[in-house]
Amino acid sequence: MISKEIEKALNNQISLEGYASHLYLSMAAWCDRQGLEGCKSFLMDQSDEERFHMLKIYEYMSEVDGHARTPKIDQPPEDFKSVKSLFELLYEHEQKVTQSIHDLVDLAYSEKDYTTLNFLQWYVEEQREEEDMARSILDKINLIGDSPQSLYFIDIELEKISGDSSD
Ligand code: FEO
Repeated sequence: MISKEIEKALNNQISLEGYASHLYLSMAAWCDRQGLEGCKSFLMDQSDEERFHMLKIYEYMSEVDGHARTPKIDQPPEDFKSVKSLFELLYEHEQKVTQSIHDLVDLAYSEKDYTTLNFLQWYVEEQREEEDMARSILDKINLIGDSPQSLYFIDIELEKISGDSSD
């Protein structure tokens, strides 16, 4: 059993993960329109991962007799100023998700809900990895710029990352 507060916070998390999945899908579609195939496949993979993060909470709720609510998902932006601004937005969103996970950890801790605390550890680690990845992509873009030539190399790099993570 989980408390109503924890249930509400987990539902909020479902909504954030669902929005992230939608946002990254929209980003992938934008990259596709720019001819950036590597960025597109990286973002498609990220979108799938976010859906998995969302479904994992549904599963947990089912195991602890909670009520997972299927969220209304806001329309994400469809146009981005540049590849750099797209990844800045992605990084910002990941930081928001991290904050929300940490708030959930605080809540579970204050309620002595050790089962939920244990469940959340996976997300704490996942967020560390995702923020690190987003930061290192932005570092690369800042290093070599986002001129058409630089984008060609960024695109190859991201194609490699998405290939590696699907192994
Ligand atoms: Fe599931 Fe990237 O937050």
